[in-house]
Amino acid sequence: MTTIHVDLPGRAYAIHVAPGLMARLPDLLGPHLARPRVAVLTDERVAALHGSALHGALAAGGIAAEMLALPAGEGTKSWEGLSRAVEWLLEQRVERRDLVLALGGGVIGDLAGFAAAILRRGVRFVQVPTTLLAQVDSSVGGKTGINTPQGKNLVGAFHQPVLVVADTALLGTLARRDLLSGYAEVAKYGLLGDADFFAGLEARGPALFDDAEALAGAVVRSCEMKARIVERDETEEGERALLNLGHTFAHALEAATGYGDRLLHGEAVAVGLGLAFDLSARLGLCSQEEPSRVRAHLGAMGLPVRLGDVPGALPPPEELLRLMAQDKKAVAGRLRFVLARGIGRAFVAADVPEEAVLATLRDG
Ligand code: GLY
Repeated sequence: MTTIHVDLPGRAYAIHVAPGLMARLPDLLGPHLARPRVAVLTDERVAALHGSALHGALAAGGIAAEMLALPAGEGTKSWEGLSRAVEWLLEQRVERRDLVLALGGGVIGDLAGFAAAILRRGVRFVQVPTTLLAQVDSSVGGKTGINTPQGKNLVGAFHQPVLVVADTALLGTLARRDLLSGYAEVAKYGLLGDADFFAGLEARGPALFDDAEALAGAVVRSCEMKARIVERDETEEGERALLNLGHTFAHALEAATGYGDRLLHGEAVAVGLGLAFDLSARLGLCSQEEPSRVRAHLGAMGLPVRLGDVPGALPPPEELLRLMAQDKKAVAGRLRFVLARGIGRAFVAADVPEEAVLATLRDG
């Protein structure tokens, strides 16, 4: 088991990564339990796959667990999903010293974390992420929240978990497309700050998914990078924005395609990473070869890398730009972009000329 520590003052926690950790949950949870009982929030798909293993593991350690399985999918990350979760937790008489356990992907982790943040003005919660995306990104760093008709993640709170347990064996049940979608975020860490990590991923290629040890290693490196960034900038005043490399483009593409099966979040990020490097090259920040190298790797893994790879028609560049301007990270109407001076050298740029973005979208 590899353990990464997130050293936030008064809110420090451990991220444990290894195959088979579900069975060790009683030991890992032990120090955090005021009484041998947890309230589990999950979705119906994850409950069917991993619910009885979780119950079995906890029961073997003498821990009682009640479970609420909400419908699977982004629609659950809503006011309705939140009120169901919070009211159920109250019905279960979850108290301030109790523990909420989020078992699932990003939707459940974000929703359960937000429910825990507002329940009785804050109860502690544990993340047990079951997707690659959740293991390398959303379960770490304390961003919690829901979507509203006005946009994604516009309502929420920073609420750090007290523990993250990433059982990499659970990734074996993921559909290839979901695994790949999470992989875009893994590659992102290399692209934003660790060129050697990216080169290692390039060298391994799609064989990564057949090598449990290497995949766990990629989860560890991703979590280490995220932990260090979150320690320095928990509430995204500056450096944490680097984690949004490729995401301004991605959010526009997701908005244009309806946040669904047509284009998964990680697929949008993969296209966005290529565009972010295109834009960087166009602005003379990095060589023309860098966007090609980014796309060559992501494409070899099986991800979409160009606007033309997105199924169906997309709105014109001007409309995509308008969708980007609605990104909540816009400051006083000006878009911030995460750009790169090369692979592993990302930075936040506040003053990107609109024309360069439009030209990138036209060629993308
Ligand atoms: N997923 C971006 C962040 O946690 O800041």
